[in-house]
Amino acid sequence: MTAIESIAPLTQTLRPFPIIADRVLKLVKEEDVDFQELTQLISTDPMLTSLILGLANSPIYGTINRRIDSLHRAILILGRDHVVEAVMVHIMRSVKDSIQESWPDGDIYFWQHNIAVGIVTRLLTTNLHLPYVQQSLVVGLLHDIGKLLLLNFKPQAYLQILEQVEKFKTPLHVLEKEYFGFSHAEAGYAACEKWNLPTEFAETISAHHDPPDSDINSLANLVRNANLIVKIAGIGKGGDPYVSTKNLAQLPHARLRWSTMQQIIMSLSDVVNELTSMIFGSSLVVHTRVMRPLQQMPKTPVFVSIIDKDEQLLVRYILTSMGYSTRADFQENKSTIRDKDAIGIIVTDYPDQFPRGVQMIINYQEWRTEQGEQPDNSLNVASLRNWLYKQLLLEAIPAAA
Ligand SMILES: [Fe+2]
Ligand SMILES: [Fe+2]
Repeated sequence: MTAIESIAPLTQTLRPFPIIADRVLKLVKEEDVDFQELTQLISTDPMLTSLILGLANSPIYGTINRRIDSLHRAILILGRDHVVEAVMVHIMRSVKDSIQESWPDGDIYFWQHNIAVGIVTRLLTTNLHLPYVQQSLVVGLLHDIGKLLLLNFKPQAYLQILEQVEKFKTPLHVLEKEYFGFSHAEAGYAACEKWNLPTEFAETISAHHDPPDSDINSLANLVRNANLIVKIAGIGKGGDPYVSTKNLAQLPHARLRWSTMQQIIMSLSDVVNELTSMIFGSSLVVHTRVMRPLQQMPKTPVFVSIIDKDEQLLVRYILTSMGYSTRADFQENKSTIRDKDAIGIIVTDYPDQFPRGVQMIINYQEWRTEQGEQPDNSLNVASLRNWLYKQLLLEAIPAAA
């Protein structure tokens, strides 16, 4: 049996598209969309109606200043592309209901990871003015759907595989391939085929753990990039804390200004919480872990002085998600900070270069050496995040004298 044949039983329990979704998607495909008819059709489904009203009033879609209460107006404001997105989100709810097994620690964490990847894929798309308006949120939302299929197919084995990720310091998709002969990315392809989603969706999802494409702006690169950012920002739990630092410069974020990336990372947890409650109901939402003691402290800018440019960027993104403003240092093998006495906090490979006057020196090499060499230059960003948090917490709450 080939790997593809052995995937087939995985999708058997997946529900087909809800009928309403199928009808809406057919209607919006027509060249001249009849918005009156579309409103009438959508109004027959209260869940979809409230979702569309929620989206029309959400900052995710930007420019709205006043409350929209009419479905027709909400549809006109969202337009064809966003109505398609709303329908896909609606479908996701039914996908969620057709999976019996629970994600370790709670399903909501799994969905938060996927929702966050959907949002970041969309934000990268809009900020880079790329033509994937209809696809980006949906592909991000569904990118790890294969994990749920694998969990549903062989729950015990899959839970064990999830536990092995950190134990063997090996990315999840590699372990899946060893056990099943295919990974969740390929299982996701099979799910897209079952739902007759466009081939572009299926191909993007099946390639999301491959190395970056040479076309920096490909949809697959956007999803890879979003997956990376969401892991770094510590939102939700996708079961795999490893990110590859190989070829980072080939991902779309490399084309965006620092301030734009900072904005995306800092606003992420609020937007994710909002969309999660829209999809699953607010009672289910677990607000992303806020690092409270740090968030309440006044923020000293942090200098990040790490020789490896990719790791320097990872550390800056993590600190940004904790609410710190950061400055990059260390170019051409030397520190660029002139007045070293004036620095507050520094994360560095070279703690000896800085005088005692510095408020706090975090020796990055301590963490890095403990990690050892990883295949594919992959680093456990959850571990790095927790380690940095502990170091900063020591500074934020000094021990009583
Ligand atoms: Fe994945
Ligand atoms: Fe993921």
